[in-house]
Amino acid sequence: MRKIVLAALAVLAAGGSALSENFPSHPITIIVPFSAGGPSDAMARVLAERMKATLGEALLIENVTGAGGSIGVGRAVRSLPDGYTISFGHLGTHVANGAIYKLGYDLVTDLEPVVLLPSNPMIIVSKNAVPAKSLKELLAWLKSRPAPPTAGTAGAGSGSHIAGLYFENVSGVKLQYVPYRGTGPALNDLVAGQIDVIVDQTSNSINQVRGGNIRAYAITADKRLDSAPEIPTTDEAGLPGFHMTLWSGLWVPKDTPKDIVAKLNAAAVGALNDPAVRKQLENLGLQMPPSDQLSPQALGVWQKAEIAKWWPMIKAANVKVD
Ligand code: MLT
Repeated sequence: MRKIVLAALAVLAAGGSALSENFPSHPITIIVPFSAGGPSDAMARVLAERMKATLGEALLIENVTGAGGSIGVGRAVRSLPDGYTISFGHLGTHVANGAIYKLGYDLVTDLEPVVLLPSNPMIIVSKNAVPAKSLKELLAWLKSRPAPPTAGTAGAGSGSHIAGLYFENVSGVKLQYVPYRGTGPALNDLVAGQIDVIVDQTSNSINQVRGGNIRAYAITADKRLDSAPEIPTTDEAGLPGFHMTLWSGLWVPKDTPKDIVAKLNAAAVGALNDPAVRKQLENLGLQMPPSDQLSPQALGVWQKAEIAKWWPMIKAANVKVD
């Protein structure tokens, strides 16, 4: 079936087709590979609302979770290359997972990059019951635990897991990972004191930090956030060099006609350039991608560079997945 549709699409694409000219003619689905209410879901919903204005059709969010986001990405890869299924992902799902899982698809050749999205510096947060007021005190407390302290993640290969591995590497702390289907539910358990820490995306935790429901120790950026100047950087707080930003992006299945990719890219770039959208995302600590990095090709080049950078560390961590 897919072969027939591909053949039809190829003919249509070659003919500069009605398919692209009339795109979109019905709602589009964005597959978010993590739970509703988490950082990926939140960003996808803000962008979808604004992209609708440009594309004239609704963009519906479908949360397809599990296996560090690799199940949701797989669903998008197997979708028709007609522009109506978009894969939302990030450093975890579209880089790290390729070094951890037998995916059954190729993150570079089975997907077409559409646009690089804002990035999140990571934030080291704990439940309020932890008797530590600084990162140094937190590290001492974590190392003094009789059993490895528990760290919430969105599953092996997710951003919060890769950040946890990196944190273990630079701090010498050993963590016991507790996987969730997203850092939305993990954060709920941190607020409830069910787990000890998360190395989370700032946009996910920042409001709970502001509400005093969890405690923040440092962000993994080289300078403080304008939206949270009270939180020190890891350099200032005692983990020099622990820098990490979790960038996100949009992809479509390979063989999606180029002019449809261009339409989706234009709508996403339009959303990112909308002052109200920027304000909303920057207030959550998100950092906008550089304006010369917004073409589909730029995401493709960046993804390959990140694969080359991160796979050695992730493979060395020898992450076990069922
Ligand atoms: C989420 O939306 O839950 C996150 O992106 C998960 C993660 O990668 O940590």
